[in-house]
Amino acid sequence: MTKFICPICKEALSGEKSLVCPNRHCFDRAKGGYVNLLSGKGGNHGDPKDMVLARKSFLDKGFYEPLREDIAATVASVTPNDGAVLDCGCGECYYTHRIAELLPEAHIMGIDVSKDAVNYGCKRSKALDLAVASVYAMPVTDLSVDTAVSIFAPCALEEFVRVLKPEGHLVMAIGGENHLWSLKKAVYDTPYKNETADYELQGLEFVGKKELKYAIELSSAEDIKNLFSMTPYYHKTSREDIAKLDTLTCLTTEIEFEILIYKKVSA
Ligand SMILES: C[S@@+](CC[C@H](N)C(=O)[O-])C[C@H]1O[C@@H](n2cnc3c(N)ncnc32)[C@H](O)[C@@H]1O
Ligand SMILES: [Zn+2]
Repeated sequence: MTKFICPICKEALSGEKSLVCPNRHCFDRAKGGYVNLLSGKGGNHGDPKDMVLARKSFLDKGFYEPLREDIAATVASVTPNDGAVLDCGCGECYYTHRIAELLPEAHIMGIDVSKDAVNYGCKRSKALDLAVASVYAMPVTDLSVDTAVSIFAPCALEEFVRVLKPEGHLVMAIGGENHLWSLKKAVYDTPYKNETADYELQGLEFVGKKELKYAIELSSAEDIKNLFSMTPYYHKTSREDIAKLDTLTCLTTEIEFEILIYKKVSA
């Protein structure tokens, strides 16, 4: 059963192969099992297939497993056992899947604007309720989500506040100041550190953060390039700078994550 709502009239959806609302708006499930609920609002440009596959290949090698474990444990600690979790910008559900394993009785939803990403998410787990949709127009009822999750994905503050229950939480992951510093040094003449976050989010109370720091050793050009393609700077970097990675076959780089925990401010 899905908890997603009709993006046109906002009524509940029901059904298996086709999801239908009381006003007869109908959305067929794709072969993979997800449903496309893109409303046209919030942009339709998610990650293309090559980026999805690069990220999937990198993540499946376990380099970010410590982060995955910390995020899943954090989400499980703030979510009721039978609660509702929404991963906003879930990608191919590397983290979502683990959250579902730790919360087997909860209803775990994921949305991403990239069809390719969501399709791979369906392959990773059949236990997830997945839709193609934008985080800026979530097909989810007001005040219905116990925990929203946002991992390296666009921060849609108004929507988080709208969909969260009064006591709901947001768990967000961002890169720390020195995240991937050695990788950046290999690409840029003058690399910049990541800006430190402003932890204030209006409508949410900052509860705390966890920091995670370690190093990873990459021993193939493929892993190095896959990691670089996962970064937000990938699209802003010149071909000449990216080409510097062609000659690198091994690299040890810093990993620094911050897991930020927020609670909804009761009205
Ligand atoms: C860096 S990836 C992170 C994916 C996943 N959370 C992870 O860490 O593996 C960012 C994701 O946000 C998605 N995205 C970008 N804009 C979006 C939007 N407006 N609504 C929903 N997803 C979006 C992309 O398609 C991509 O899958
Ligand atoms: Zn409808």
